[in-house]
Amino acid sequence: MKKTYKLNLVVAGAGLLTLGLAGSAMAFHSGGVAECAGCHSMHTSKPGGKFLLVGTDQSSTCLSCHEHAGDTGPSGYHISTADADMASNAPLQRTPGGDFGWLKKTYNWTVRGTANTEPGERHGHNIVAVDKGYVADATNTLSPGGSFVAANLQCNSCHDPHGKFRRDSTGAIVTTGAPIIGNGSYATSVVPAAGQAVGAFRLLPGAGYTNSTGSNLFAGSPAAVAPSTYNQTEATNQVRVAYGAKSTNGSATWAQWCTSCHADMHTASGKLVHPVDQNLGSTISGLYNSYVKSGDLTGTSASAYLSLVPFAQGSSASDFASLKANASNTLPTSAGPASSDQVMCLSCHRAHASGFPDMLRWNNEYEFIVTNGAYLASGNTMGRTEADWIAAYYDRPATNFATYQRGLCNKCHAKD
Ligand code: HEC
Ligand code: HEC
Ligand code: HEC
Ligand code: HEC
Ligand code: HEC
Ligand code: HEC
Repeated sequence: MKKTYKLNLVVAGAGLLTLGLAGSAMAFHSGGVAECAGCHSMHTSKPGGKFLLVGTDQSSTCLSCHEHAGDTGPSGYHISTADADMASNAPLQRTPGGDFGWLKKTYNWTVRGTANTEPGERHGHNIVAVDKGYVADATNTLSPGGSFVAANLQCNSCHDPHGKFRRDSTGAIVTTGAPIIGNGSYATSVVPAAGQAVGAFRLLPGAGYTNSTGSNLFAGSPAAVAPSTYNQTEATNQVRVAYGAKSTNGSATWAQWCTSCHADMHTASGKLVHPVDQNLGSTISGLYNSYVKSGDLTGTSASAYLSLVPFAQGSSASDFASLKANASNTLPTSAGPASSDQVMCLSCHRAHASGFPDMLRWNNEYEFIVTNGAYLASGNTMGRTEADWIAAYYDRPATNFATYQRGLCNKCHAKD
């Protein structure tokens, strides 16, 4: 009797996994808590594991679906590339947060006889996922500018696996009060009616969130809207996530959310750090809108947007309609910022990982990002092949930039 029961559960679990892995439109979390058996197994969880999870640890459990061996390119909701699929090439996923696989790419090169190493762990958030070969950061043992213990960093440090945070019909982020009727991350997500709610953006937690990796870190869930297809090459069409700039009604600004673990990186800390949560103003929004590439300031706002340098929109507390209108994945160009739009952490950093040090969206370690029309040129190989650079720039051809293109701080400051 007991044996049969066990067997059934295993089969049910395996079936679910197959659906998840198929990369189809099949939902799983649907903006809230998914079927328990997708992550927990009552009688057959991993030996040595915790919380009856199907993986050895929390992140391994998530990656049992969010990484899939056999991928040949960007695929659905995958945010990590399996080792075998990036043995001789760069990571394959192109999601807004970035592919955790960059954490496993260490680059070595020589400059004027001196050996240089750029360790993979510098490329992002080193989540611990034993089953998938991800280990804690050996250098940053605490979150820089904060005190979060790096060895505890798991997917569920940043995402609520039970998806309790929801946006109700008034736009407020709450954890109870109305059932979650579906996903709330997309331009295609339904607008909740009175008595209904949709999931918080990307299941990102807000006030009161507590788990084994850390307690009560967040003041609110950040707001944004993504296009429903968000993992694709940006060789032609950019993926634009419309990030919100609001901090009322249970929401936090993006900078407030990130500084839950990096307090001293916020301007409000009184430390000398780059402005965040600050309007671009007419000068900087004007530069962004006219900047095309180094030496070329002939652009117009209608086509100025660059997903390598996003900004937060200064919409009102319940203005999801304007965020939805800006989220897209089918346009080669879209509009640049208004003067009331803001600079934030994700203007320069990705959230998971990137092909560059400090998880930046572009290479900030060298004065040029393109020389003589190519990413790879004498002096700036930094241990990479041209293909590695192209992947890190989400497949944009180097010809999108000037033949001698300077770093992308210039998109806002035009010092080049
Ligand atoms: C997406 C994966 C996922 C799903 C689906 C999921 N859980 Fe969990 N659950 C986790 C993770 C990860 C933890 C560990 C949390 C921590 O680190 O503290 C956990 C912990 C728990 C715990 C112990 C700690 C606590 O928060 O109370 C309980 C109880 C629990 N889950 C119940 C459930 C139930 C019931 C369901 C189905 C309605 C469910 N879970 C669905 C991932 C999941
Ligand atoms: C059984 C497979 C499976 C597991 C395990 C799983 N996911 Fe997912 N996840 C999916 C699928 C399928 C989607 C896309 C459909 C959806 O959002 O429901 C998805 C989507 C997501 C999204 C985007 C959802 C949104 O509302 O925008 C996040 C964030 C996410 N997963 C995080 C996690 C985390 C964190 C864990 C581990 C605690 C986890 N997932 C475990 C299958 C899984
Ligand atoms: C440091 C916090 C943090 C950690 C750790 C983290 N995420 Fe995320 N994740 C985010 C944020 C923020 C976004 C939204 C990124 C954006 O839209 O620019 C996101 C987005 C996503 C998405 C949507 C696709 C994308 O890239 O935008 C999925 C799926 C997801 N995360 C799953 C995971 C899984 C699985 C793990 C663990 C292996 C994980 N996350 C670890 C913060 C985190
Ligand atoms: C739950 C805590 C937590 C949150 C939330 C969080 N971080 Fe981190 N972050 C860490 C830890 C721990 C480290 C150090 C370990 C590492 O680098 O992997 C870190 C490292 C970093 C680094 C250095 C990366 C490197 O390799 O040098 C950057 C940049 C960063 N975080 C930016 C962000 C941004 C941007 C956000 C918001 C999207 C964010 N963090 C949200 C915990 C967090
Ligand atoms: C204008 C671009 C920009 C913005 C905005 C920005 N950063 Fe950074 N950040 C950088 C650069 C460039 C570095 C590399 C080191 C340096 O130049 O200080 C960096 C480094 C970091 C590091 C690693 C520090 C270390 O000691 O290893 C963390 C953590 C970090 N940023 C977090 C954040 C957070 C959190 C926010 C939002 C509150 C943020 N950053 C906003 C550009 C930016
Ligand atoms: C998304 C647009 C944006 C990007 C990208 C950006 N900045 Fe800024 N930066 C701003 C804004 C807005 C201000 C505040 C301007 C003001 O108050 O007049 C600012 C201010 C500054 C200041 C003056 C700070 C002070 O205290 O006076 C410096 C220096 C600076 N940025 C350097 C950089 C560097 C270096 C980078 C690239 C790593 C960068 N910025 C990327 C928008 C941006």
